Amino acid sequence: MKIGMIGGTGPEGRGLGMQLALAGHDIVIGSRDEGRAIETARELADTCGSEEIAPNFSGADNTGAAAGCEVAFLTVPYSGMITTLHEIGRQLRGKICVNTIAPLEFVSGQARGIAPPTGSAAEEAEREVPEARWVAAFHTVPARGLLRPGSRLNTDALVCSDDADALKTVMGLADQMQGIRGVNAGALENARYLEGATALLININRIYKAHGSIKVVGI
Ligand SMILES: NC(=O)c1ccc[n+]([C@@H]2O[C@H](COP(=O)([O-])OP(=O)(O)OC[C@H]3O[C@@H](n4cnc5c(N)ncnc54)[C@H](OP(=O)(O)O)[C@@H]3O)[C@@H](O)[C@H]2O)c1
Repeated sequence: MKIGMIGGTGPEGRGLGMQLALAGHDIVIGSRDEGRAIETARELADTCGSEEIAPNFSGADNTGAAAGCEVAFLTVPYSGMITTLHEIGRQLRGKICVNTIAPLEFVSGQARGIAPPTGSAAEEAEREVPEARWVAAFHTVPARGLLRPGSRLNTDALVCSDDADALKTVMGLADQMQGIRGVNAGALENARYLEGATALLININRIYKAHGSIKVVGI
């Protein structure tokens, strides 16, 4: 599958791109700057250290990455989400679009969730580009673990969507990553809890000086 990472030069886009390339997918790293995207794609190919995987990476500007993919991952900060969607919204029409964005601010060293007027960044993005098939996922999967080829995270990717087929596709992509299980977290409106849980997780990780994540037991 051809997968576009919008804002893929940052840690989350790089990490998800790395995992999906290792699973055999073609990854187009997107950036506001095409040169930076191409450079990041090269770096990721080097990090994988495999001649077989290296051709799976390419780079383009965000519009090119969105136009050339079947599934897009939105991995820009919340502050850049709407501007980015204005630029690439047309290219996302009809495509599965995975929103990983957790709207956060840092106050006195504490992460705090920002509640968008729609309830979640996921629903705000859907309102902006209603023609895309929106899925919200991977908020509680830290980039650091994704970026280490060969490590097994032993964590869950909680996946929300109102589109049953898109939800199934993205859970399948999560299952293909090293040590990750896709978990059905229901309707897209549940993204507000995932986005909020991200702030909590960051604060827990600060206390423990760790890179913990979330796993659901008993299901
Ligand atoms: N880091 C994590 O562990 C983690 C885990 C789960 C979810 N997330 C979510 O994933 C998203 C990306 O996280 P990250 O840590 O990778 O973020 P980041 O490094 O701050 O940003 C990712 C990329 O977005 C682009 N960007 C930055 N500001 C922008 C703006 N105003 N408008 C458009 N593009 C902009 C930059 O790429 P160019 O300059 O190349 O365009 C940057 O490399 C966030 O929304 C975060 O909540 C992160």
